[in-house]
Amino acid sequence: MSFQNPVFIPGPTNIPESLRKACDMPTIDHRSPLFGQILHPARAGVREILKSDSAEVFIFPSTGTGGWETALTNTLSAGDKVLTARNGMFSHRWIDMCQRHGLNVEIVETPWGDGLPADRYEEILAADKNHEIKAVLATHNETATGVKSDIAAVRRALTAAQHPALLFVDGVSSIASMDFRFDEWGVDVAVTGSQKGFMLPAGLAIVGFSQKAMEATKTGTLPRTFFDVRDMTKGYANNAYPYTPAVGLMNGLNQACSMLLSEGLENVFARHHRIAEGVRAAVGAWGLELCASSPAVYSDTVSAIRTPNGFNATDIVTHAAEKYGVAFGVGLGEVAGKVFRIGHLGSLTDVMALSGIATAEMCMVDLGLNIDLGSGVAAAQEYYRGHPGCVQKNAA
Ligand SMILES: Cc1ncc(COP(=O)(O)O)c(C=O)c1O
Repeated sequence: MSFQNPVFIPGPTNIPESLRKACDMPTIDHRSPLFGQILHPARAGVREILKSDSAEVFIFPSTGTGGWETALTNTLSAGDKVLTARNGMFSHRWIDMCQRHGLNVEIVETPWGDGLPADRYEEILAADKNHEIKAVLATHNETATGVKSDIAAVRRALTAAQHPALLFVDGVSSIASMDFRFDEWGVDVAVTGSQKGFMLPAGLAIVGFSQKAMEATKTGTLPRTFFDVRDMTKGYANNAYPYTPAVGLMNGLNQACSMLLSEGLENVFARHHRIAEGVRAAVGAWGLELCASSPAVYSDTVSAIRTPNGFNATDIVTHAAEKYGVAFGVGLGEVAGKVFRIGHLGSLTDVMALSGIATAEMCMVDLGLNIDLGSGVAAAQEYYRGHPGCVQKNAA
């Protein structure tokens, strides 16, 4: 018999049985109305999850990284200036992509653990009288550090500076798990993938474009073929794609949206918050600290936990995999070896989270850290006892 523990990496996340089944379907003609019955509800479901009335949703056979490329190549031209901050591995990689596309990136270096510096953005945008900055890039949830940023504040910075730049938001590890408000925050392009909040295997880049971003597709001259949203728009009008879509995954996406919407978005967010608070209670009981610098930026989908100086945090991840068959996330980039990450997003309950907390605790004790066995579990249990969520009667 083989056993499968839940994973506690911050994506890909655990896949509910019903979604696995939804992805496993017979071949259909992807140029037929039958495909339209999968495509259009999936796009509508994503739009609702983005909290948008009018976003154009595009779904590519790709991953979140392809979503970044979609945002950039469809709207910008070589030499265009973009403004962003580097506060973790994913914002760093997005910057790298911009530079490889010949964009001129103004980078606000930000401590890893802090949120995006909206005040600094405002100063820079206000000083950009000729509106050379064409886009502001914002990573909503830095998965490397477990830091959430205030996208509404970034929009306020643009508004205060009366600046017309587009606002691109990476919501790869927030959308469908944490509150995300495409319309209210004035997001122009939102980017995510299938393998985190949507609880599916990796394989889809999911993006939303505002009407303003759609207008920019007419003037941007960066080369684009696979990720050209104009070709995609034409395809969608005929229930089709410019190439072969990942039909099974899209069927899964359709089901995932239904699951999330029937749970209720606010309930989904509350569940993630409650589970995250339990994990944070455990971290406190262990006497450890989060990489995230203050409660205002604590992520509800991933916690990056600092280990004491001189201790290699990656050893916890290796040990958990080898001894207990449980996956945690390693530290990335600047915080490699300094943090390990507990992913707590997607198809997860309090009880599942307790098993992850217990395993992390066993590993730390095995590896000689001065932690009392049971201390983190007890703290999380206390939290969950005092903050019960809805019992999921049919988690599959
Ligand atoms: C915040 C964030 N952005 C972008 C990415 C890249 O997405 P993908 O690995 O799906 O290409 C990730 C992946 O973990 C992420 O967490």
